[in-house]
Amino acid sequence: MKIAIAADHAGKELKSYVIDFLGLTNHQVLDYGVATDSSVSVDYPDYADIVASEVSAGRCDRGILICGTGIGMCIAANKFPDVRAAVVNDEFTARMSRAHNDANVICLGSRTINHQRAIDFVKIWLSAECEEGRHRARVQKISSIEKRLMP
Ligand code: RB5
Repeated sequence: MKIAIAADHAGKELKSYVIDFLGLTNHQVLDYGVATDSSVSVDYPDYADIVASEVSAGRCDRGILICGTGIGMCIAANKFPDVRAAVVNDEFTARMSRAHNDANVICLGSRTINHQRAIDFVKIWLSAECEEGRHRARVQKISSIEKRLMP
């Protein structure tokens, strides 16, 4: 898959750790985030904008966004049509974000989980599939809401 990734200043170290892990896989990674050696404080919506735009437009299959908690990135990313972003804090939410919500963007908090946990969650999120059936129908209802609000 083609995966866009970005982080703000709070998430830049975890981002490089996740990129190192993705380098061991067959996925193609596009890094749109803050350089690891930068000491500049930046605004997370600017980075959510870039990654969510890539996913929303279909230029990337998935997105990974990292900030202090994952929350701000998630709020911003979910403004984009066809983006289903989820903050993931444990194995269960990592799996459910795919199984029930078909989440195409994962949001991680560098201040809430350690590096190894983050990798574990990314692995689960990359390999788990949406369970289809009633779960697909519910995801489609989200798309219908988007179309109604932003025709
Ligand atoms: C930056 O201090 C912090 O607010 C940001 O990384 C993120 O946690 C926002 O949701």
